Amino acid sequence: MSKKILLTGDRPTGKLHIGHYIGSLKTRVKLQNTGDYEPFIMVADTQALTDNARDPEKIRRSLVQVALDYLAVGLDPSKSTIFVQSQVPALFELTSYYMDLVTVARLERNPTVKSEIAQKHFDQSIPAGFLAYPVSQAADITAFKATVVPVGDDQEPMLEQTREIVRTFNRVYHTDILKEPEGYFPQKGQGRLPGLDGNAKMSKSLGNAIYLSDDAKTVQKKVMSMYTDPDHVHVEDPGKIEGNTVFTYLDVFCQDKDKVQALKDQYQKGGLGDVKIKRFLNQVLEEELAPIRERREKFAQDTDAVYDMLLAGSKRANEVANQTLAEVRHAIGVDYFAGRK
Ligand code: TRP
Repeated sequence: MSKKILLTGDRPTGKLHIGHYIGSLKTRVKLQNTGDYEPFIMVADTQALTDNARDPEKIRRSLVQVALDYLAVGLDPSKSTIFVQSQVPALFELTSYYMDLVTVARLERNPTVKSEIAQKHFDQSIPAGFLAYPVSQAADITAFKATVVPVGDDQEPMLEQTREIVRTFNRVYHTDILKEPEGYFPQKGQGRLPGLDGNAKMSKSLGNAIYLSDDAKTVQKKVMSMYTDPDHVHVEDPGKIEGNTVFTYLDVFCQDKDKVQALKDQYQKGGLGDVKIKRFLNQVLEEELAPIRERREKFAQDTDAVYDMLLAGSKRANEVANQTLAEVRHAIGVDYFAGRK
């Protein structure tokens, strides 16, 4: 059986946190290790630049941090091609050709882009590259003919737009070279981890994240500061589970579901203090995070080797993407000099 091609990536705008881990990294590693896939994992620096063009230093700095996070969680360069988006020129060229098949109105309707635009307060000064990043994402996916794209739920509109581009391209140029991708989404309830403060989203800008690179002390401090039930003042008071971040995290991270249920029962009845459940959560998190942290520290001692790994991955990515680009040029008919010396 031939392997399915998998592609996904992350914008390097900072270190990755346990929300990324739960929402996506863990699944990738699992899929990588089944041996049923050929994974391409991309550090999406070009996409990160679409709204950080004036702060490239942030992207440069984050590139190696994201690569370290990848290696730390168990992405393995002998099984996955880990590469850097900007180092694969074919992606830019594919983006240009696809851009001609997409209307501005269609881009403006993309719900994820729409909410990002509102959130980033671009007002009237939306960078054209930002508005068009779903097209570049279509280039990322199709360049490798990926059919499986493990991403968070918020990326579904990108996949829909990619499928539209694929269909339009194949129809207009009478070909079938481009493949329609499917999203591979987290299981229900595992998709999005709330922030430490109870905010629906864990994010760097909200300052409510636990990073894969946080040391044990920092994790403990963050867990102790977590939002629980503001009306649960005394240990003997009955407490609420809904919206209680500690229990949300326990549901996600603790394998012993009976134990979690028992704690919930006791908490709701009264007689279980916040400090106790936080200590338990800290222990559960440490079990998962300690090995990741150790591996990260080891890889961080030799960042030269990390750059070498990214270079090797990018070379391989170029081979595959250039092949698709040649097919795309041929399909459009702009391969004027094919066969000439
Ligand atoms: N948009 C993705 C994110 O913000 C990153 C990304 C860029 C991506 N290109 C991709 C994901 C292609 C999947 C496929 O996390």
